Amino acid sequence: MSNETLQAVRGMNDILPDEAELWLWFEELARDWLHSYGYRNIRMPLVEPTALFKRAIGEVTDIVEKEMYSFADALNGDLLTLRPEGTASCVRAVLQHNLLYNAPQRLYYSGPMFRHERPQKGRYRQFHQFGVEALGFAGPDIDAEQIVMCARLWNKLGLRDVSLQLNTLGDAAARNRHRAKLIAYLEQFDADLEANVSMSLDADAKRRLHSNPLRILDSKNPAMQQIIAQAPKLWDELEDDALKHFDEVRAILKRHDVPFEINPRLVRGLDYYNRTVFEWVTTRLGAQGTICAGGRYDGLVEQIGGKPTPATGFAMGVERLLALLQDDGMALPKAEVDVYVVHQGELAGQLASRMAEQLRDSNLRVLLHCGGGSFKSQMKKADASGARVALVIGDDEAQADEVSVKPMQGGEQERVSVRNLIETVNKFIK
Ligand code: HAM
Repeated sequence: MSNETLQAVRGMNDILPDEAELWLWFEELARDWLHSYGYRNIRMPLVEPTALFKRAIGEVTDIVEKEMYSFADALNGDLLTLRPEGTASCVRAVLQHNLLYNAPQRLYYSGPMFRHERPQKGRYRQFHQFGVEALGFAGPDIDAEQIVMCARLWNKLGLRDVSLQLNTLGDAAARNRHRAKLIAYLEQFDADLEANVSMSLDADAKRRLHSNPLRILDSKNPAMQQIIAQAPKLWDELEDDALKHFDEVRAILKRHDVPFEINPRLVRGLDYYNRTVFEWVTTRLGAQGTICAGGRYDGLVEQIGGKPTPATGFAMGVERLLALLQDDGMALPKAEVDVYVVHQGELAGQLASRMAEQLRDSNLRVLLHCGGGSFKSQMKKADASGARVALVIGDDEAQADEVSVKPMQGGEQERVSVRNLIETVNKFIK
């Protein structure tokens, strides 16, 4: 057997304590923000039947075609997938437990998602999202509220340089008409059919021509840009209802002073969207500049087996958001220690652990020295811990039921009865 050190799976990161402090801080802030908009937490499994994602995200999407961690359960043959996103699971859970029975739902989740993408800065195979879903709401008010709430979070975080890209995908009938026109247009550039064209579709576009032509419009290939620029526009097919919905979303955003840019080419990489779609982007993270994205998905609940139910949501990538904050020079908040307990001798050790528990009863953060050593070396550790106070307990203190309290930032050490411990410690800390 080899005893080589094993490494984490490529594209899957350890989050070490210094960085985890930032994660904890962000997660708490995000939860407060979500609760302030009435969203409630839901927790779904990390593994779901593969069929769920195929049906929800779409068979001809990058995620389903080439990025899912799918496997057959070796024990019973079930086809399973590590969730690549949360919306499908959330809708499945809502339906399975009949949560829409008598009220719409505002829900959020957070945790790891898995996509077998090529790892690079800001793009990982295990990454983390905060996801937000509002189910049972049809009006433009909720679309706009979700965008306004994002803007509030960026403000709270002091994030600069994030901008909003907005589009509408209209409803199914308009999209079907557009799709037919788009296919007819793109077929002219399919060199297999037409021999004498100067421009032609790339391999990706050829593959998607009949299965998912809309995604062709999202191609980053420079050779495709001229074809794309002249393609029939979905906007020309949009019906009054969808246009009115979009007008209203824009009007609300303007009333809230949330600037946006209309991007008719924004189509998103998952098939379930209709009407409003949006992405919050930054130019500061290189190619992976989308920190948060989402939109309306009125057809998904029915597609997964429920009654037709309008819905809208979004998810943000935690790694990307935190990278932006770090880029802004945000200092990591360090977990603080209030008291470091130094002790020597058997009796002192017993009193020390009792005192440490008592201090924790008063909500103080206490490090009890473990592992022995001289008073001097223990005091060095107390100093390095950043504690504001050290308790010093030797056997003579323990015998007298007393402890010495030493303020670490200077000042006189005091020897007090254990009864007065909390009071004395608090005097130095507050
Ligand atoms: P998505 O655009 O696939 O949408 O992902 C949302 C966000 O997750 C992205 O904007 C990005 O910040 C982050 N993200 C995605 N892939 C990676 C990756 N490989 N590495 C790091 N971060 C990544 C969804 O997942 C939809 N479920 C959003 C939604 C919710 N729509 C409606 N409700």
